[in-house]
Amino acid sequence: MAFVTGGARGFGNAIAVAFSREGARGVAVIDINPQALTEGKKIVESFGTKCLAIEVDVTKEEDVERAVAEAVKDFGRIDYAASVHPSSSKYDQNRKLMGMTSQGISQHPLLSNPHIRHFTEDFRKGMVVNSTGVFLSTKHELRQMMKQDFIEVEEGRVPQRGAIFNSASVNSQMAIVGSMPYTASKYAVLGTTKAAALEARDYSIRVNAIFPGFLLTDLLKPIVGAVNGLPQEVWAGCEARQGRAAKFEEVWHVAVLITSPRMSLVNGVNLFVDGGFTINEA
Ligand SMILES: NC(=O)c1ccc[n+]([C@@H]2O[C@H](COP(=O)([O-])OP(=O)(O)OC[C@H]3O[C@@H](n4cnc5c(N)ncnc54)[C@H](O)[C@@H]3O)[C@@H](O)[C@H]2O)c1
Repeated sequence: MAFVTGGARGFGNAIAVAFSREGARGVAVIDINPQALTEGKKIVESFGTKCLAIEVDVTKEEDVERAVAEAVKDFGRIDYAASVHPSSSKYDQNRKLMGMTSQGISQHPLLSNPHIRHFTEDFRKGMVVNSTGVFLSTKHELRQMMKQDFIEVEEGRVPQRGAIFNSASVNSQMAIVGSMPYTASKYAVLGTTKAAALEARDYSIRVNAIFPGFLLTDLLKPIVGAVNGLPQEVWAGCEARQGRAAKFEEVWHVAVLITSPRMSLVNGVNLFVDGGFTINEA
């Protein structure tokens, strides 16, 4: 069975669907957004797979522990786990809570430099959702996987107890101007992944990361081209450097593949699903 945090929409839901299409007997979608959970669960179930929707804030350890316990109660174990939640929605909420708009902030003369324009609170939120959320998910997924039995996958292949992947980013390797909170949090995702990979391998568990490429998901739609958001031409430049826009299925196939026992010696990597973005110096 597969356990997907941030699984209610976007890449996370596409990946939950992919596990379903590839024959998982169950999928648990874990998300903070109850409306999106209802929708996301329906989509997974439309492929004939049992789906458990669990409302969780991945920044809260007790929530993550509860989600793992509920999934194990229903399905007996967790074979595949994916952390696919981001932090940006929290930034926006935070700005609203502080009663300030992005536009208002950029107009302040002291804050015209994007390096210092970020709210310190944005940085903290980025770290707590992206980094702490991935740490907590990885920690409790691993604790569960370490105590479950091996699965014999095929003759001659090392038996597998489980496999995890975390959603990293191109910003786990490189930065762009104005991305300080996101970049810092995505470097932390890769650090967590690498350290966990070394701890997990003695238990026949692998932990990897993927960079899912550039795709205009619901997360990015309100940001790309918005006032003080990501300028449209920057986004177009990213897609051009990638070769073209990514498609959901191109990401989900890789996501399922990296957890497959056929990838038994692949551990602790950040696999770039980016059409060559990161090697393209042009
Ligand atoms: N879209 C892209 O081009 C792109 C590029 C690089 C990396 N990524 C990464 O891919 C991942 C998914 O992005 P997406 O574009 O599909 O985002 P999305 O916003 O469409 O979906 C993310 C889901 O995570 C949930 N979530 C947010 N905070 C949460 C919390 N505290 N607890 C539980 N769930 C929470 C949201 O409710 C949402 O359903 C992210 O890690 C993002 O950084 C996306």
